[in-house]
Amino acid sequence: GGRKKDFNILVIGLDNSGKSTILNNLKTKDTKVATINPTVGFNQEKINFQSVNFNFFDMSGQSRYRSLWEHYYKESNAIIFVIDSSDRMRFVVSNEELADVVNHAEIKNKDIPLLILANKKDVKGAASENEIKNELEINRIKGRNCKVYSTNGLSGEGINEALEWLASEMK
Ligand code: GTP
Repeated sequence: GGRKKDFNILVIGLDNSGKSTILNNLKTKDTKVATINPTVGFNQEKINFQSVNFNFFDMSGQSRYRSLWEHYYKESNAIIFVIDSSDRMRFVVSNEELADVVNHAEIKNKDIPLLILANKKDVKGAASENEIKNELEINRIKGRNCKVYSTNGLSGEGINEALEWLASEMK
């Protein structure tokens, strides 16, 4: 077998949605960290997943850092957008941020997959996958492969399945 392929994956979404927690869950026992702090700027995490190497750019979701996201659009092979499915107060903000991404000049005509993680599915009253699809107006996203998976960043539930889909798109 040849060398594993590397792919740059941009991980974005509002602050507190669970981006760093999800990535931490994918790490091996000895590289996992016990406590996750809010990301300042961004962190790069190289994680081996099945037959591919994912080079994740874990961006801060805080409003003051969201302007950094676009600097990574050009070199990204896929986008993961994380939404806190229990944070109903900010579904509209998530929708606006996602719309800005998919309509951005450097993304619009770029054929890269979009994986949406409806995280915090364990929280009581969390929105279902279908509700998230409606809130984020997924039907308006044309011209790229897009999927929504519900996840629990803490237990890891749903993450493998979602990344398997993403890996299958990386050809
Ligand atoms: P920024 O770095 O600020 O952009 O945030 P982030 O998206 O990286 O979120 P982070 O991983 O720091 O998680 C925010 C909080 O949500 C932490 O307290 C996590 O423990 C918690 N959290 C993450 N995923 C889940 C989940 O699936 N369920 C629950 N209940 N809590 C979660």
